[in-house]
Amino acid sequence: MKIEQTLIIFKPDTIQRGITGEILTRFEKAGLKIVATKMVAPNEKHYHKHYEDIGNMISRRGQKAFDVTLKFMRDGPVVAMVLEGIEAISLVRKLVGTTEPKASLPGTIRGDYAHMSFVHADEEGLGVPNLIHASGDADDAEKEIAHWFSGNEIFSYETAHEKFTQSKRKK
Ligand code: PPS
Repeated sequence: MKIEQTLIIFKPDTIQRGITGEILTRFEKAGLKIVATKMVAPNEKHYHKHYEDIGNMISRRGQKAFDVTLKFMRDGPVVAMVLEGIEAISLVRKLVGTTEPKASLPGTIRGDYAHMSFVHADEEGLGVPNLIHASGDADDAEKEIAHWFSGNEIFSYETAHEKFTQSKRKK
């Protein structure tokens, strides 16, 4: 059983639309465990490290995409969270959907709550309002979690389900 931790960020569009709780419920219903959370409004330097130093975004997506994303992310506070579960990194990416909401399938968060296209965002000079950031792979998850949270902000506890299964195993 591969237990992983992954970083998610409820982006400013989620907070401003008042659907943070509704979206969080999806992760909880999937059985993912919240081990860290906080509302923050990071500065440009923090986002530069997140998107470029860790994510290499400029070489992959270009300077313009980086600039509009930075502006979009700094439009308001975000809620950062660490979720834990079995192969949580890929599971969370699956629940979130693809980067472009227009291409995200119904049933995913981006497919159900947004329909923005890259073309439209580019025409309007906007960052893509795609609701949630989720770590792409194990390397990114480790670096992103360390960037957003200090060790004492990440908690270890037993869920009711874990207590139940452990007590059964002890018998
Ligand atoms: S992903 O889904 O993690 O693979 O996305 P990635 O390629 O790393 O892109 C990083 C973030 O940049 C945003 N993005 C864009 N914004 C505006 N215009 C364009 N063309 C564009 N391309 C990518 C995208 O929302 C990604 O945000 P995160 O926070 O990683 O989801």
